[in-house]
Amino acid sequence: MCVTVLQKIPTGCEAVDKILEGGFPIGDISLIYGEAETGKTTLAMQCAVNCARQGYKTLFVDCDSTFSARRLSQIASEDFKDIAELIILMRPNNFSEQAVVIDQLTDYITKSFRLLVVDTITSLYRAKVAEHPEETFQLNRELNRQIACLAQVAKTQKIAVLLISQVRSVFNEAYISIEPVGTRVLKFWADTIIVMKPTENPRIIKAILEKSPKRARHSFCHLRIEKTGMRGHLIH
Ligand SMILES: Nc1ncnc2c1ncn2[C@@H]1O[C@H](COP(=O)(O)OP(=O)(O)OP(=O)(O)O)[C@@H](O)[C@H]1O
Ligand SMILES: [Mg+2]
Repeated sequence: MCVTVLQKIPTGCEAVDKILEGGFPIGDISLIYGEAETGKTTLAMQCAVNCARQGYKTLFVDCDSTFSARRLSQIASEDFKDIAELIILMRPNNFSEQAVVIDQLTDYITKSFRLLVVDTITSLYRAKVAEHPEETFQLNRELNRQIACLAQVAKTQKIAVLLISQVRSVFNEAYISIEPVGTRVLKFWADTIIVMKPTENPRIIKAILEKSPKRARHSFCHLRIEKTGMRGHLIH
C-alpha cells in the first residue's frame, strides 16, 4: 500500500541525504558516477530499499549484471522479503536490448513506481562502441536519444530516474583526472550529479555534489562502506 506521496527518494545515508536536501528528486534525472568499487551500486540499492519502505516499486535495469540478492539482504536487513518484492529487475544483454527496455518503459512503469535505476547506463554503449568504432557517431546519438526518453519518462510518470556511470582514471601528465563515459551527454541531461571518489582508505569514499538544482551548503562528505551500505554523517 502506498502511504505517502514521495517528492524525493532518500539514499538512507544521512550525509548524502543532507547534501541532496532529502534525496534524489522525483521528475528529474540524477547521476552517480565514479570509479569501480566506490559504492555506486550500493547507494542505488539503498535508494530502492527506501523507496520500497515507503510502499513504492523500483525498476532496476541491471545492465552490468551486478545486482546481488545477498547485498540487498544486507542493506534491507529484516525487511528483505517485503522489499525484494517491490524491486523489479531487468537485465538487457546488449545496447539494442537496452534501447528496447527504455522504449517500452511506459508499459511497465505504473503508478506504484517511484524510482528507475539504470546501472550502468554506459557499459553496453561502451561495449558496442568498442566492437563497432565506425558507428560511434550513431551510437552517441542513440545514447542521447535513450537519455532524452528517460527524462521524458521521469516527468510524465513522476518517478526519480537514477543513472549510474563508471569512469576510469585517466593519466593526464601532471595529475589524474576522472571523466565519465559519454560525459557530455550524461552531464547535459542530469539535474543532480554526485561523483564518488576513492580515498587512501579503500573503505572510505568521498561523495561530492557536482550539480544540483539548488546547491546546498554542504557539497561533499565522506562515506564508509559498511555491511549495511554506505554510511556517513556531516560534521557541523
Ligand atoms: N557486506 C559488505 N561489507 C563491506 N563492504 C562490502 C560488502 N559488500 C560489498 N562491499 C564492498 O562495497 C564496495 C562497493 O561496491 P559497489 O558494487 O557498490 O561499487 P560500485 O561503485 O558499484 O562498483 P562497480 O563500478 O565495479 O560497479 C566494494 O569494494 C565491495 O567490496
Ligand atoms: Mg556497480
